[in-house]
Amino acid sequence: MTSLTESADKTVDKSFDDTTVTEAIEVEHTATVARENRETVGEQFVDTARMTCRDVDVYYSDKHAIKNVTLDIGHNEVIAMIGPSGCGKSTFLRCLNRMNDTIDGCRVSGTIEIDGQDIYHKSMDVVPLRAQVGMVFQKPNPFPKSIYENIAYGPRIHGLAQNKAELDEIVERSLERAGLWDEVKDRMEQPGTGLSGGQQQRLCIARTIAVSPEVILMDEPCSALDPIATAKVEELIDELREHYTIAIVTHSMQQAARVSQRTAYFHLGDLIEVGETNQIFTNPRHQLTEDYITGRFG
Ligand SMILES: Nc1ncnc2c1ncn2[C@@H]1O[C@H](COP(=O)(O)OP(=O)(O)OP(=O)(O)O)[C@@H](O)[C@H]1O
Ligand SMILES: [Mg+2]
Repeated sequence: MTSLTESADKTVDKSFDDTTVTEAIEVEHTATVARENRETVGEQFVDTARMTCRDVDVYYSDKHAIKNVTLDIGHNEVIAMIGPSGCGKSTFLRCLNRMNDTIDGCRVSGTIEIDGQDIYHKSMDVVPLRAQVGMVFQKPNPFPKSIYENIAYGPRIHGLAQNKAELDEIVERSLERAGLWDEVKDRMEQPGTGLSGGQQQRLCIARTIAVSPEVILMDEPCSALDPIATAKVEELIDELREHYTIAIVTHSMQQAARVSQRTAYFHLGDLIEVGETNQIFTNPRHQLTEDYITGRFG
């Protein structure tokens, strides 16, 4: 604003006349309106939606953590959720497989569907839902069991294998898809917790894949990994897109730009903007998105 006042003082110089100042004030005013307007801008809807979220609100007791979010998640896309700490990224992600059900005082309203089925309908069984919409967490969390058992456990409880040979095949295929098979095939009976951090995270991804999900949710999956392990997981995410839909929360804008096709920017519980990743990072439409990606906020 100082610059505007200073500019106004320079109107003696004919190149900076009153019209210029008025226009500059109008630009400032538009930016403020955009900053205060919390209606989502961008492409919330896609033609081939795997999941649809409509008017989703989430409360933790009286804390309004997600505010009226409407968003589609497309088939075989990686969608990145970005935004400052506390803006509701994890909360929103957890709505997609009802992980918020496990949190006392958490209430979710609105509609979320997968392939046209309401996941909050009273007839929905959350156990198969959480296989269909799997989750990978920030910190790798292998079970305190062998590498083999880490992968075999899910298919066994979900009855996905008729016999040992089928189970072995699922274990091998899941580890292969997670890019880990070659590193572990000779040590399947060793504990999963004995692997390196990056290997553990790929083990957890393999465990998620083993129960044939459609959607994989990842909440900052690389934040505990070194750059080499991160690069491997990012490569893997790109390959997995062929078979799965992936929603990933990340604090790294570079990572969002590298792995996703769409990006959603959250701010204080509002979905501010969503669109093609390239557009979000090069030509954001909302002032708040621009403030965040240029490092002025967050
Ligand atoms: N279990 C909980 N109980 C009460 N409030 C919560 C709970 N979990 C999250 N919140 C609040 O909801 C809001 C959104 O939190 P959330 O963890 O979803 O943010 P986030 O964007 O994932 O943040 P970060 O980037 O730090 O992980 C915050 O204000 C947070 O304090
Ligand atoms: Mg979080």
